[in-house]
Amino acid sequence: MKEIVERLSQERQAHIDRLVEWLRIPSISTDSQRTGDVRRAGEWILDELSSSGFEARLDETDGHPVCFGSWTSADKAPTILIYGHYDVQPPEPLELWRHGAFEPTIEGEDVVARGATDDKGQVLALVRGVCGVLQERGSLPVNVKFLIEGEEEIGSPNLAPYIEKHKDELMADVAVISDCSQFAPGIPAITVGLKGLVYLEIFIQGPNRDLHSGSFGGSVENPANVLTRILGSLRDEEGRITIPGFYDRVRDLTPDQRAGFAELPFDEEDFRKEVGVPQLHGEAGWTTLERKGARPTLDINGLLSGWTGEGAKTVLPAHASAKFSMRLVSDQDPGEIEALVTEHLHSLCPPTCTIEVRTHHGAEPVLVERNSKWLKAAARAIEKGFGKTPVYIHEGGSIPVVSDLKTILDIDTILLGLGLPDDNTHSPNEKFHLPDYQRGIETIAWFLDEIAP
Ligand code: BES
Ligand code: MN
Ligand code: MN
Repeated sequence: MKEIVERLSQERQAHIDRLVEWLRIPSISTDSQRTGDVRRAGEWILDELSSSGFEARLDETDGHPVCFGSWTSADKAPTILIYGHYDVQPPEPLELWRHGAFEPTIEGEDVVARGATDDKGQVLALVRGVCGVLQERGSLPVNVKFLIEGEEEIGSPNLAPYIEKHKDELMADVAVISDCSQFAPGIPAITVGLKGLVYLEIFIQGPNRDLHSGSFGGSVENPANVLTRILGSLRDEEGRITIPGFYDRVRDLTPDQRAGFAELPFDEEDFRKEVGVPQLHGEAGWTTLERKGARPTLDINGLLSGWTGEGAKTVLPAHASAKFSMRLVSDQDPGEIEALVTEHLHSLCPPTCTIEVRTHHGAEPVLVERNSKWLKAAARAIEKGFGKTPVYIHEGGSIPVVSDLKTILDIDTILLGLGLPDDNTHSPNEKFHLPDYQRGIETIAWFLDEIAP
């Protein structure tokens, strides 16, 4: 494997060129105007797999297509399933980008573009690594399947039925996903915890039209006031969520887990400065890393009501709405939390208005068994690919497929994050550190070697 990795490292520029080409396709899954571009990004990765000797195809779903590829000629060897997503988040606000979001630019050692780290750069590292090995030696030491979808950023609504339908074809011993981060520059990590998610939208309806706030204020309830009162009551001053029953299933951190968090070289002050706030904030009784990785949270994601244009307009708005979401931890159940929160919101709405609550997407929280042979093999591969021993971390983000793979295929996932915490995921000027792209390419090659019989 050593000579092959050596060869992979000489092809550095070709790997970068391919990534830049893929990043040019604006595969924004939330945007119905972009359906064609999303498909084009799926076709692009299909072509990358097919042209490297993988049997691959694009499968239709009720939404964006899924790219499936496989190479399964390794007799009596384990099978890995590599998952990734080729869709990206919308690039807005556009004016904050230094260049066009879909005009990938090399800045120093980074490539800057929407999708650079989430997830095109990370999944392409795995694809280039595996395909590179296949091309160099004409075979792989283990069986490899790829499942690369176009709907992760909208909650993977069609993926569970897809996995169910193609259960036999997708069957594997373990899954590998690169769609998260290292702990810090120079400190690679294996992620052992992801948060779950419940995303809701709340609508408060007041009068049948916008009213003059002088003539009607005080006699007709203002839905914006009602909405903010409700939202404001969902967390107390200590940062605890006040919804009855919300914490019932939250699994307490073990002393070992808390010690694990405390051992990580984390500088609160650097973190505070990097996000640019005057002071950090969070649930009392927990450290910043614990809050980020292992405690449930509730955040408003968008607010809409009344006059937000130029100047002042004395109006009592007819309605108000908000989008907000909760990040969950083991063993909270998204369905149960959704029902609990919806009922609580209804109970908070006064008789002067009406309320409607809609659910967007969700995801289950994830905890990975730290001592499995797969994680140990991944740690050895990271040591070779990165030249460093990985740490074990919990991330606040969510990846819906992980629990689907567990429930439907009964397989565990190795979360091998190649990104960095300051990659600007979902933000303007998203980037991916190219030396880490290269290390990812080499790490997956080493991983195939580590798990080969
Ligand atoms: N790659 C992220 C998830 C992620 C981000 C994991 C950072 C760990 C660290 C993924 O693409 C994502 O954005 N997921 C969404 C959830 C999804 C249901 C829309 C998220 O976490 O908000
Ligand atoms: Mn992602
Ligand atoms: Mn994302």
